[in-house]
Amino acid sequence: MTKAILINGSNTTFSRLTGVQQQAEKALQAQDIETEVLYVHQIPAEDLILANFGSEAVKAATAKVAEADIVVLLTPIYKASYTGILKTFLDLIPQKGFENKIIFPIAIGGSIGHLLAIDYALKPVASALGASHITHTVYVVDQQVEKLADGGYKVQEEAIARLEHQAAYIAQHSKVTVQA
Ligand SMILES: Cc1cc2nc3c(=O)[nH]c(=O)nc-3n(C[C@H](O)[C@H](O)[C@H](O)COP(=O)(O)O)c2cc1C
Repeated sequence: MTKAILINGSNTTFSRLTGVQQQAEKALQAQDIETEVLYVHQIPAEDLILANFGSEAVKAATAKVAEADIVVLLTPIYKASYTGILKTFLDLIPQKGFENKIIFPIAIGGSIGHLLAIDYALKPVASALGASHITHTVYVVDQQVEKLADGGYKVQEEAIARLEHQAAYIAQHSKVTVQA
């Protein structure tokens, strides 16, 4: 089965980015793609800051990336860019760690003004890691995601439709394993 790892670069799970992530998972699963989520902020901070390649937590996390066919990079926009939290983890991925994978960037921002941040800041890093197939970005503004009283999130249909469109594109372009 095709596998996707969703790397969430927020500083918390209580962000509207989590609502977008949940919809992205749903859209990929609807295409028969298995999903797993990795919250970078749950990796020990010292291992991230000290770039501790020998850390068991880091090795487990990078192994999950290595096993995946699809890497979904999720980030809030902080200071006109993706988060430093996400970068600390990307720095720990081996050189060419994104080779032969489809990379799907997703961002949430307070304004549409930083729509291109992913193109000028995140996509070059994915390329440096060997990615040759990076999809269009799904950029959501935080007004499109409502935090619900029960702890859930309501994401606007327009944003869900864009996630579903990219998931269908990814399913079409991901490797198909044919049983002999
Ligand atoms: C430190 C910080 C910096 C931010 N910088 C920007 C920014 O430059 N551009 C932008 O559109 N949104 C910016 N935002 C807003 C967030 O991208 C976004 O709305 C948020 O992560 C989603 O909201 P929530 O996590 O509160 O649910 C910033 C937020 C924080 C906390």
